[in-house]
Amino acid sequence: MSTVLRGGRVVSADGEYDADVLISGERIAAVGDVAPPGDATVLDVSGCYVLPGLIDNHTHLSMPFMGMMSSDDYNTGTQAAAAGGVTCLVDFSIQREPDQLRSALAEWQGRAEGAAHVDYGFHMAITNANEATIDDMAAIVEAGVTSFKLFMAYKGELMTRDDAMVAVLERARDLGALTMVHCENGDVVDILVKRALHAKETDAIHHALTRPEFVEAEATSRAARLSEYTGAPLFVVHVTCEPAAAEIQAAQQRGVPVAGETCTQYLVNTIDDLRSPGVEGCRYICSPPLRDASNHEPLWDFLRRGVLESVSTDHCPFTDEQKARGLDDFSLVPNGLPVIQHRLSKLWDEGVVAGRITPSQLVDRCSTTIARRFGLASKGALAPGKDADVVVFDPDAPRDYGTHTSFMNVDYDLYAGETASGSVRHTLCRGTMVYDHGEIVSSPGHGRFVRREGQA
Ligand code: URP
Ligand code: ZN
Ligand code: ZN
Repeated sequence: MSTVLRGGRVVSADGEYDADVLISGERIAAVGDVAPPGDATVLDVSGCYVLPGLIDNHTHLSMPFMGMMSSDDYNTGTQAAAAGGVTCLVDFSIQREPDQLRSALAEWQGRAEGAAHVDYGFHMAITNANEATIDDMAAIVEAGVTSFKLFMAYKGELMTRDDAMVAVLERARDLGALTMVHCENGDVVDILVKRALHAKETDAIHHALTRPEFVEAEATSRAARLSEYTGAPLFVVHVTCEPAAAEIQAAQQRGVPVAGETCTQYLVNTIDDLRSPGVEGCRYICSPPLRDASNHEPLWDFLRRGVLESVSTDHCPFTDEQKARGLDDFSLVPNGLPVIQHRLSKLWDEGVVAGRITPSQLVDRCSTTIARRFGLASKGALAPGKDADVVVFDPDAPRDYGTHTSFMNVDYDLYAGETASGSVRHTLCRGTMVYDHGEIVSSPGHGRFVRREGQA
């Protein structure tokens, strides 16, 4: 079965040009002046941009966290992903003490299999790095899960200690795997939260005020130093502010193998969102928190220069009912924002239309570089032989944000009332149409597990 996307403007990480794209089965067959077979389905995409499917390397679907479960499962979460032009995501499987890593991977595989609409892989989050866990890491890499994650925050639930971090970094290095890290000093956060609650400072805004920028910068610096000491590659997730990104830059300048990402919300939202009254303020609680707007331009600049190499979403949705648990105590609000559907349209408007990045830089930061970093060899580019993961984006088809256009399983939309200037027209995952003019047209189970390669 063949499909040709005719008359669009193809965007790669290196540039853009007018070309047709021929898909044969699950793969890209040709890009350029193509001669499709007579029975090919022809889609006229003139006036549209044709991009490689976006990859979201940082999501939390059905994540047990803070005594709750994030509200998108692999069915709803991957529908929302496809509606936002995402054709592959890498989700966090989480070790649940006292279990070992293999059982966590089996649990997450069970959740995703038969449910996902787009392709998926896993990272493995380590919460208890005992000897058996460190041993188990080899089996996880063998299974095609080539990145591990550590949390330097969430004391008492997910938080790791420095000795465990060194052990994981060294083992991951030896296995050719990548260590990812959530950088916040969890001990300091714990002190600041206790002080705030003692002073009856319980509103949502105090979540952000008890996790100041230095808490993130200090942990980022420490993690980078441990990467330097061990020689192990490190990937700092969800960088929110200039001081933390500056620590990554300083480490890179010393030759340390440290890379980092930021997320859509840190480029477009601010700490003031947490000042909204009641549950509205709670909707914006995530960690590290949203920051002062003065961080936006520096973050865009770090992104342009590649100090921060990619943008993910850290999609971790909770409903108003779940968020409302912490109306009288911010420390009880489950942390995380629903963003998976909005990265492309937000970065298009705030990045491309605003003149901060080019369409090629958007493709690079949201697809090509992520594929390279996370060992997704068949993805991240529109080139013959690659998976036919394709997004057709119409820059002249505005779309309103709101629950009426959202596929995310939450009863609010952070950007409701705003309008995106352009929108996704089609999303194809391995040659199959998943999202078409506002509708999901695939079945759960189209998405497949992707085994990932290790670090070069
Ligand atoms: O608040 C957030 N970011 N929730 C998801 C878990 C994490 O820290 O990534
Ligand atoms: Zn995190
Ligand atoms: Zn996360």
